[in-house]
Amino acid sequence: MPHPVTPLVLDWASDHLLRIDDVEFYLTVGLDELHAHESRTNHFLLGKTRPMIDAVLALRDTESIRRILDVGIFKGGSAALYTKLFAPEKLVAVEYLPQPVAALAQFIADNDLASRLIPYYGTDQSNAQAMGRILASEFPDRNIDLIVDAFDIGRHYLWRDRWFKPIM
Ligand SMILES: C[S@@+](CC[C@H](N)C(=O)[O-])C[C@H]1O[C@@H](n2cnc3c(N)ncnc32)[C@H](O)[C@@H]1O
Repeated sequence: MPHPVTPLVLDWASDHLLRIDDVEFYLTVGLDELHAHESRTNHFLLGKTRPMIDAVLALRDTESIRRILDVGIFKGGSAALYTKLFAPEKLVAVEYLPQPVAALAQFIADNDLASRLIPYYGTDQSNAQAMGRILASEFPDRNIDLIVDAFDIGRHYLWRDRWFKPIM
């Protein structure tokens, strides 16, 4: 059963610019823009397309997404977006690069999310020991509802009866 999440107003200024409350998401999958466009306070570069967002959004109507693992923080866009879309109990985001994303740190501080949106930088998802430690401490009950994989842009997995089902 879907978790009763608060009503959301998605304001699409264009297929590349989404506003939710006071937060903007600039969507692109173009390599040059991915690198050139920077996140800043309440404005995030999001490495996704509008149809990808529509598909994720549809999950709000059918699933209860309370705990999320997002692999690949990049410039913070997906971690901020999933927080806005699902208001998760916990979202853990993992990134290979060591440098924290200032805009995401600001978003966490401004919205009092320190215990719910937890980024791990300098963490390689192929490092089984590191990932095992993070998962054991953040999700001791092994109850992640949604996993998003950095390598396949847009690859999402839903937890279903002891196996993860690709949904996109
Ligand atoms: C496509 S970007 C993620 C985009 C982001 N999720 C979004 O929607 O805006 C992929 C990210 O994965 C990171 N990455 C690549 N290999 C990784 C690995 N082995 N472990 C963790 N993160 C990795 C890259 O540094 C990059 O920031």
